[in-house]
Amino acid sequence: MKLLGIETSCDETSVAVVEDGRKQCSCVVRSQIETHRLYGGVVPEIASRAHAESISQLTAQALTLAGTSLSELDGIAVTAWPGLIGALLVGVNFAKGLAFSSGLPLVPVHHLRGHVAANYLAHAELVPPFLCLVVSGGHTSLVLVEDYTIFRTLGRTRDDAAGECFDKVARVLGLPYPGGVALDQLGQQGRAGAYEFPSAEVRGAPLDFSFSGLKTAAINHLHHAEQKGEALQRADFAASLMECVADALCGRLELAARESGATALALAGGVSANSVLRRRAEELAGRLGLPLYLPPLSLCGDNAAMIAAQGFYELRVGHVADSSLNAFASREIEFSI
Ligand code: KG4
Ligand code: ZN
Repeated sequence: MKLLGIETSCDETSVAVVEDGRKQCSCVVRSQIETHRLYGGVVPEIASRAHAESISQLTAQALTLAGTSLSELDGIAVTAWPGLIGALLVGVNFAKGLAFSSGLPLVPVHHLRGHVAANYLAHAELVPPFLCLVVSGGHTSLVLVEDYTIFRTLGRTRDDAAGECFDKVARVLGLPYPGGVALDQLGQQGRAGAYEFPSAEVRGAPLDFSFSGLKTAAINHLHHAEQKGEALQRADFAASLMECVADALCGRLELAARESGATALALAGGVSANSVLRRRAEELAGRLGLPLYLPPLSLCGDNAAMIAAQGFYELRVGHVADSSLNAFASREIEFSI
């Protein structure tokens, strides 16, 4: 079964063709980073307009690269939630048009389920159940993937996502958007532990995260240093912050793995590209004696291949939308149509 995947939830327009949820036949991504960099972050309306401009061309490219045509496909998968609403609507409406004209089933996909499914494209042996740490710009959660379309959230952030914390601190450090990537590069030349940051626990919810205190403490430190004219070891600062975030993430991942009796671990989402997080997760998995699945760097960020991969599993169990499909800015990963 071949599915077309469409992803427009944030600042990347992407279209892909994937076979049986596992084989990437094509995947084209047009990033808007250069445009949004001028403003230091994503400008939603500009994102929507850029998606509208690119989507037809990228679809044609994805089909050509895969050596296929609409008539040879089995479904149209599209990110329908969560994300920037105007951006999502471009992809959803385009997918509805394609499904309407071709008669193919229309498969709405949860963006974070897509991130989890990026692992299926790289690891043929990975099958649920497994425990997944989902870390992106907007979300940070620990999710039990009980089956391909059955998810249970064990812990979530109460405030900022890990990616948001990286991005905001990076911005004050004067690094270009998207800050997480630049912070990672800078931190690789630094010494972790040179700076100390607070780590927050949520009382009564040991698997929940909180990153806003850490973010504020880091930003305050930078502002104070600047006001006092103190020299800042920027690389050490970045390395220390990453270690602290990885500590919080891997500490909860370990607890959740022990409590749930997980037999395999995975990472998903943009922040899973982080070098410190990947190393720390590998160390943890080694200590627990569990296999760890990491998405390849090329599939950590937003892409449509992961949407088409998850779409295959959604279609298989009949999670198909009718012509009234709408997009939603937020929706739990547990939600199935
Ligand atoms: O999953 P994603 O591409 O978009 C969302 O669904 O939000 O994640 C984007 C986030 C941004 O916060 C970005 O700074 C972060 O992932 N990110 C990283 C790295 N690469 C991307 N954060 C830390 N280290 C990285 N190497
Ligand atoms: Zn994402």
